[in-house]
Amino acid sequence: MAAKRNLLVTSALPYANGAIHIGHLVEYIQTDIWVRFQRLMGNRVVYLCGDDAHGTPIMLRARSEGLAPEQFIARMNQEHREDFARFGVKFDCYYSTHSPENEALCYLFYERLKAGGHIVHRDIEQFFDPVENIFLPDRFIRGQCPNCNSPDQYGDSCEVCGKHYNPTDLINPKSAVSGAVPERRTSRHFFLRLEDFRQQLLDLIRGGLVDSAVANKLEEWFGKELKDWDISRDAPFFGFPIPGEANKYFYNWLDAPIGYLAALAKNMAGSAADAEEYWKMDDLEVYHFIGKDIIYFHALFWPAMLIGAGLKPPNRLCVHGHLTVNGEKMSKSRGTFINAAQYARHLNPQWLRYYFATRLSASPADIDLSFEDFCNRVNSELVGKLANLISRAAPILTRLLGGRTGIVTMDALPLLNEFRAAEAEIAMDYDQRNFAAVTRRVCALADKANKFVEQQAPWSLVKTDEEAARGVLTAALEYGRILMIYLKPIIPDIAASVEKCLNVGPQKWDDIQNSMDSHVINPFEHLTGRVEERKIQNMLDEVKTNATPATAPAATAPAAGEEPLAPECTIEQFSAVDLRVGRVIHAEAIEASDKLMKVEIDAGPLGKRTVLAGIKKACTPEQLTGRLVIFCANLAPRKMKFGTSEGMILASGPGGKDVFLLSVDERATPGQRVH
Ligand code: 2FM
Ligand code: ZN
Repeated sequence: MAAKRNLLVTSALPYANGAIHIGHLVEYIQTDIWVRFQRLMGNRVVYLCGDDAHGTPIMLRARSEGLAPEQFIARMNQEHREDFARFGVKFDCYYSTHSPENEALCYLFYERLKAGGHIVHRDIEQFFDPVENIFLPDRFIRGQCPNCNSPDQYGDSCEVCGKHYNPTDLINPKSAVSGAVPERRTSRHFFLRLEDFRQQLLDLIRGGLVDSAVANKLEEWFGKELKDWDISRDAPFFGFPIPGEANKYFYNWLDAPIGYLAALAKNMAGSAADAEEYWKMDDLEVYHFIGKDIIYFHALFWPAMLIGAGLKPPNRLCVHGHLTVNGEKMSKSRGTFINAAQYARHLNPQWLRYYFATRLSASPADIDLSFEDFCNRVNSELVGKLANLISRAAPILTRLLGGRTGIVTMDALPLLNEFRAAEAEIAMDYDQRNFAAVTRRVCALADKANKFVEQQAPWSLVKTDEEAARGVLTAALEYGRILMIYLKPIIPDIAASVEKCLNVGPQKWDDIQNSMDSHVINPFEHLTGRVEERKIQNMLDEVKTNATPATAPAATAPAAGEEPLAPECTIEQFSAVDLRVGRVIHAEAIEASDKLMKVEIDAGPLGKRTVLAGIKKACTPEQLTGRLVIFCANLAPRKMKFGTSEGMILASGPGGKDVFLLSVDERATPGQRVH
């Protein structure tokens, strides 16, 4: 018997400033399938993840919601855990980079890197927002592209021509936080000298850290000197302060991967030293599942930090591509930016696990979710081929033959042997993350099994020869049982329903070679339904409705009463929307937009908000100024073409000049909650 492996597996830590969406789920589902497979084989696995909780965007987002960063990240952590649980993604520990374990580990890394002479410091010039008093991350600076002159581009690259540049090269730069013209300011920064690790990093990359296609790409980086990596940020910043330095913090990308070790410490209910000891185990294999956009961090910075701190680098980076939906980038306006919770309100998460598996391989190429293909795969493969075997055979056995299995009929044995012989290839496909091949092989076996049952027609046979029919039905259930072991890592909930129906207890990989004893199965319960296109449409409609600002209604909005009722919501969902009273203190029409007005609202103790509202045609700024309005105060700020909107004013009407603001009794006070 092969020696059992000792694995430590991670998925990238999602940022704590947004909901988990189906694009994220590709990675978590991929990792979870791989982890479940390794466990099914009897290997030891610890699967770790957590929130990436530090950084300027999170600090600003918390502020815009009137929360302390700690409160905000605690809420996100809870939401993320719930989302992963919905999709059966089961971590041993889901933690956070904002944790005492991570802080201790971060200092440990820093002290060791410093002692090794790998940290240097020097002054650099950066953009500073004089209104907000913060240094601006590249993504928070907007301006005209220095290459193609396109307006409103990010500080690091142009979305129109694709050019990468320095934020200081932007023409007419503006702070995306306050709108102010940023100033250049000098400050002292700390850097990690990557060049110190050149040879070890090269050896690692050539030695199988990544697949060869990725390795070739990575080697290009070594053609010139590896640039020092800036690991510090200036106050105000949400992160860990650099010891012994005033107003300096560690850049969140420094403490993010250390968060893997912090989750390990937490999982062991231990200290930084315990996590280090675990990581140093000789036989431990460390696997990081990541998207292709963060290879640089995991193939250069993180191994350099580990080597510099005296820990071993990871064994393997499992790199996947990004998700496209119906062939295009996920997009809010097209309604394809689907959150995990939105998907789960309409469709079965096990279907998405199955569908992603049919598309996943070890390649870092993008994968596409085509809803047409999704329907076909779920309905014809998962329901029509795989669940079909059990859902046809089990009810006949229960209804007509007392639910008792017998001896597999002789005719069924060759195929049963074929089912068992597929074990090694399927295991190899799983281990190499070639899940698409797993589903292909399993479907091919299911086709043969269904054909056999069809030919034997146990539903007719039972009328003339009960024992022969029992033998065929037993074979059908045996085929179904083995197929479900093969698919258990992919669709664990459906596999558990099959185990319950067959009355067999949790199956392991070894059970492929075993037979079901002659025994009585449980009454059949429905395994999984078919996807209905209507449900997909409802989901897409919901996503689209949420993405369209109510204050900028579509030009072709339906007349009163024609608009279909939105899907039912619970009282919890309703209460999650925080509606407040606010007074408009300033309003101005946005010249370049034919719909939008920029409205400044005073919300009493909540402070001031700027909302971009689609009411330009419906009223003048003068008519609006001084009015009390109701607005949604906990809506995530949305970057729109003309700035960021920090809420939504409640109004009715189809749009254009027919937008009717809801009036508020003058006795109400700004900031009061609307019930
Ligand atoms: O790119 C991201 O979403 C990061 N939050 C990933 C961090 S992974 C790890 F290094 F922590
Ligand atoms: Zn450009």
